[in-house]
Amino acid sequence: MTMLRDLTWRDLPRVVELEGALFGAHAWSEPTWWAELAARPRREYVAAVGPDGAVQGYAGLDHGGESADIMTVAVDPSLHGAGVGRALVDELVARAERGGASALLLEVRDDNAAARALYARTGFVHVSRRRGYYQPEGVDALVLRRLLSPVDGDAQ
Ligand SMILES: CC(C)(COP(=O)(O)OP(=O)(O)OC[C@H]1O[C@@H](n2cnc3c(N)ncnc32)[C@H](O)[C@@H]1OP(=O)(O)O)[C@@H](O)C(=O)NCCC(=O)NCCS
Repeated sequence: MTMLRDLTWRDLPRVVELEGALFGAHAWSEPTWWAELAARPRREYVAAVGPDGAVQGYAGLDHGGESADIMTVAVDPSLHGAGVGRALVDELVARAERGGASALLLEVRDDNAAARALYARTGFVHVSRRRGYYQPEGVDALVLRRLLSPVDGDAQ
């Protein structure tokens, strides 16, 4: 069972541990995470937690007005394939729509099959390719987009 809630500074030791395991040399450092959390409300981070309260994964959004961006999605390796990533992306979609965005964009490594499958399953389509974007490996970034149904604040 997975519950979703806002990510807080108390989660950072666990998040930084997962970052290292999942992203290696591309992991965000603890100071970067503090800066990301301080960038609210433009940035919004969500934690997926298990019944014991343990952080199973996390994901984040940049609210940029008409279009929002997914900053990251990450799931504990021992829980891959259990639907946590999908729950996180669905939550980001809902939050971006509540923020009034009509499109959600992201960049994904061309060689990241798991992430590409997750985004395909959650309705993202390819819009462009940035050659050699991820360095030093020189791996391309694919830019993906999902169109949203923004929630009209006046209608609530
Ligand atoms: C990408 C990632 C977040 C996916 O999380 P997850 O919890 O394992 O994904 P889910 O279990 O919700 O799977 C979502 C869909 O993607 C598919 N998928 C997930 N991993 C897959 C894999 N390795 N190969 C093929 N398909 C895969 C699933 O089959 C599922 O589709 P379905 O619902 O039709 O069965 C996870 O692999 C991860 O943390 N990777 C390292 C960090 C990373 O690369 N983040 C993305 C940065 S852009």
